[in-house]
Amino acid sequence: MTAYSKGLEGVVAAETKMSFIDGEKGVLEYVGIPIGDLAKNSTFEETVFLLWNGRLPKAAELAAFTAEIRKHYELPAGMEQRLLALPRDAKPMHMIRTMVSALSMHDQNPDANDAPSLRERAISILGRVPTLLAYFHRYRSGMPLVRPDTSLSIAENFLYMLNAARPTATMAKAMDVCLVLHADHGLNNSTFSARSVISTQSDMYSAITAAIGSLKGPLHGGANEGVMVMLNEIPSVEAAEKYVLDKLSRKDKIMGFGHRIYKSYDPRATHLKVLAKQLASDTGNMALYEKSTAIEKTMETAVAAKGIYPNVDFYSATTYHCIGLPLDLFTPVFVIARVGGWAGHVIEQMGDNRLYRPDVLYKGPHNAPYVPMAQR
Ligand code: CMC
Repeated sequence: MTAYSKGLEGVVAAETKMSFIDGEKGVLEYVGIPIGDLAKNSTFEETVFLLWNGRLPKAAELAAFTAEIRKHYELPAGMEQRLLALPRDAKPMHMIRTMVSALSMHDQNPDANDAPSLRERAISILGRVPTLLAYFHRYRSGMPLVRPDTSLSIAENFLYMLNAARPTATMAKAMDVCLVLHADHGLNNSTFSARSVISTQSDMYSAITAAIGSLKGPLHGGANEGVMVMLNEIPSVEAAEKYVLDKLSRKDKIMGFGHRIYKSYDPRATHLKVLAKQLASDTGNMALYEKSTAIEKTMETAVAAKGIYPNVDFYSATTYHCIGLPLDLFTPVFVIARVGGWAGHVIEQMGDNRLYRPDVLYKGPHNAPYVPMAQR
């Protein structure tokens, strides 16, 4: 048995051609292309094509891929009734985990695991997750559902279905950039979960459902909601320093900081910080942005020496707030983006599969007596 590594730190458990991370230098590339270039020049749809195909699409290929995704903006028959029967106070992450799982029951062949079938299922989940989220939000708010508009991109259509109004070009672009930045990230916990599930030859729905369950945790994707809760708890920019230092003295974690792989600035946070500032200024939310920079300044003095910097979730909270997203949709929006990464990893895993089955270090007793019930 090889050495035990708590939390699997430093363990290499898969090969990928999708994303590359250099945690010391703060580098993230998708198929070799720096994340900043993609955030500036690409779109979410093009980025997903890149991740799934290992190259950028030609114009006709992107048009065909986009059209294929848009065919799946609508939910399959029966899913809407299912959604409208959910408790209105269900939490959106529980809802989306459950409803992605339920999609499998509306698929004639949910267990098909050959590459074209996995790709078809990936495209349909990618198209439907934003619809499920927007429908659920409007249903729970007592507002009529807004049908998807297949002339719009995933980002623009999501905001349109959510708000019953076309977003401005700036907001649509900001949403799209967020999706690009969150699309894939090595063997993070949820991606590992997806690869682990599909390695049993289960199915795409099960793998994505498991990944959503993982992403929900506050140490992973749930941190973006934790950041917003923290920003709401801090009454003013001036109060930020004491709030952070008090938390650190209690050994509490500051949400949106630290990373297993990055020991320098998360390159996604670099871009989100710029975006957050621009949107905050456009939407009259500069106080929120300044609270964020005050937290960052305090953290820099207190813990940067330990390699703790803002991660992707820190400035995405301010960004999502300025886009107008309700707090409990922050992590579900991460799901929209990461379906791209998860599905790509599922397809990659099945291309060269071996069952994940690590070992465990047994620490219990041996040869223990079976004590009869009456003598315990
Ligand atoms: N605030 C304060 N101290 C921290 C933080 C933080 N956010 N993160 C790490 N530390 C400290 C930690 O207390 C420990 O200190 P010491 O060695 O003195 O005991 C040291 O840094 C190592 O921390 P760790 O928890 O052992 O590191 P890890 O690699 O197991 O955890 C992490 C990584 C992301 C879970 C952790 O940094 C954390 O809990 N951050 C807050 C939650 C968060 O923002 N999560 C989102 C991660 S990025 C996006 C994603 O993957 O979804």
